[in-house]
Amino acid sequence: MESRPGRLPELKATRPHVDPGASCPATAPSVERKLHVLVGVTGSVAALKLPLLVSRLLDIPGLEVAVVTTERAKHFYSPQDVPVTLYSDADEWEMWKHRSDPVLHIDLRRWADLLLVAPLDANTLGKVASGICDNLLTCVIRAWDLSKPLLFCPAMNTAMWEHPVTAQQVGQLQAFGYIEIPCVAKKLVCGDQGLGAMAEVDTIVNKVREVLLQRGGFQQS
Ligand SMILES: Cc1cc2nc3c(=O)[nH]c(=O)nc-3n(C[C@H](O)[C@H](O)[C@H](O)COP(=O)(O)O)c2cc1C
Repeated sequence: MESRPGRLPELKATRPHVDPGASCPATAPSVERKLHVLVGVTGSVAALKLPLLVSRLLDIPGLEVAVVTTERAKHFYSPQDVPVTLYSDADEWEMWKHRSDPVLHIDLRRWADLLLVAPLDANTLGKVASGICDNLLTCVIRAWDLSKPLLFCPAMNTAMWEHPVTAQQVGQLQAFGYIEIPCVAKKLVCGDQGLGAMAEVDTIVNKVREVLLQRGGFQQS
């Protein structure tokens, strides 16, 4: 595949909502393009809400959205319900054959103006806190430009949430400058009652809008 620095590479799985030729934010005049929101989704049952989350983000004028999924997250949604480009680990490895080929996690971190990890499960939380990057999503996060916002929405069983390592790891992500959208208490899908449920989709979308407004370059309609 031809390397096109600063552009998102074309994938055979690409669906039309995201223009794969969209210019890199670093090189394109801001008046010419939409803001790019990259959604990372991990293997929490809250990934069931991915289609709703993406459709609500697309309701915000001036946004383009793409998704990076972990393999486990795929269990919880149907790709046909997600009307944007969806990237997963296989895309990264299928794309790179020769020196001049694009490295997807680097192109995605260039493309995105904001990264929203929703839901962030306990496994990926632990990996991100310690710098592990063994899949496409954690590589994007590890390579993230810290001058751009990264929002994360923890989601896990109450017992996992209450384990002392969770607060340490969430604190580590905050120390990196990432923005937590806190989990909420409710009756979880597993039947337990308590903290650990992902924040409501409305809360998440409102926070994305607020952060983009704070950073400028975004017109509220
Ligand atoms: C039905 C089901 C629901 C799950 N829900 C959660 C969850 O809400 N939060 C969590 O941290 N892990 C949850 N897990 C466990 C994760 O899927 C598991 O840790 C997995 O390895 C995460 O991989 P990933 O971080 O690469 O997506 C769930 C597992 C199953 C089978």
